[in-house]
Amino acid sequence: MQRYSFEDLLGDADFFAEEYFDKRPLLKRGAVPGDPQEILSLTDLDDLVNLEAVRPPYIGITKDGKPVDAKWFTRATVVQGTLIPDAVVPEKVHELFKSGASVTWMSLNQIFPQVRDFCRVFSRTFASRSDAVAFVTPPHSRGYEAHRDAVDVFVVQLAGQKHWQVWNDRYEGTGLCDTEKLGPPDFDVTLTAGDIFYLPYRTPHLVCTESDVSLHLSITVRPRLWRDLLMLTLHKLLDDPSFDDYPYLPSNDRRRVELQLQEKFESLQKLIGDMEAESEVDRLIRIGRSMEGSSSSRIFGGAERRSVHAQNP
Ligand SMILES: [Fe+2]
Repeated sequence: MQRYSFEDLLGDADFFAEEYFDKRPLLKRGAVPGDPQEILSLTDLDDLVNLEAVRPPYIGITKDGKPVDAKWFTRATVVQGTLIPDAVVPEKVHELFKSGASVTWMSLNQIFPQVRDFCRVFSRTFASRSDAVAFVTPPHSRGYEAHRDAVDVFVVQLAGQKHWQVWNDRYEGTGLCDTEKLGPPDFDVTLTAGDIFYLPYRTPHLVCTESDVSLHLSITVRPRLWRDLLMLTLHKLLDDPSFDDYPYLPSNDRRRVELQLQEKFESLQKLIGDMEAESEVDRLIRIGRSMEGSSSSRIFGGAERRSVHAQNP
């Protein structure tokens, strides 16, 4: 069951969309009600690494801003006769962490149900795919160079503190960026447990830990542009049987092919004209909310109830 709503965390969703979404960063102190480690704790991550089942790309390690080759913290093992070439070695992960490396856990929404529930808050609100990446960073360390991400990020500080420098400057592409050129940051802040920091995609940021181990979760939301949405609408329209025939494009009768194409443009135009925006918006919202990453269904839990019901209709 979902524990939080978007309103609990960041207030009215329409107001957020109007003022901040795809516009500018928002820092909300103490945004998570209750204990933020109920979403994900350092102990959960200890348990996960000790299970030895987690493998790259779910786990990654960086040191001095550079990725550490997985061969330094994985080994080959055999599970019921099947070779697993890169099972994680907990002792190696701990050794690297103690030497100042940061550990990144990708797509934890595919592993922890409570993290998936938390992602669902964002995918429902924005009708878009959402994933969770956790960062565990030792004291006085920097995981990555200054960079811009290609997704919207909701940073949720779960334990310890982390220092963030953020520039409200989204004019360039994604990837590493030169902070010298950006001038003084617009935010120079330390996040503590329960704070949420929203960064629209391409917002430059540089992050380092202070005196404690830091655990934060980055909830990424992939914005769907009008282009992406209209592609879905067009795909649906192009399923129409009037587009099933197979043209011979390099025909010597070029004029005939051009007329055929003109007819298809007109058919498509007619189909677009007949579309009802109201039901199409509903469909696009439904698709966005059931995308990979935060979808949910009951297969086994429901099966028991279904079979009881079948016996006692
Ligand atoms: Fe980032």
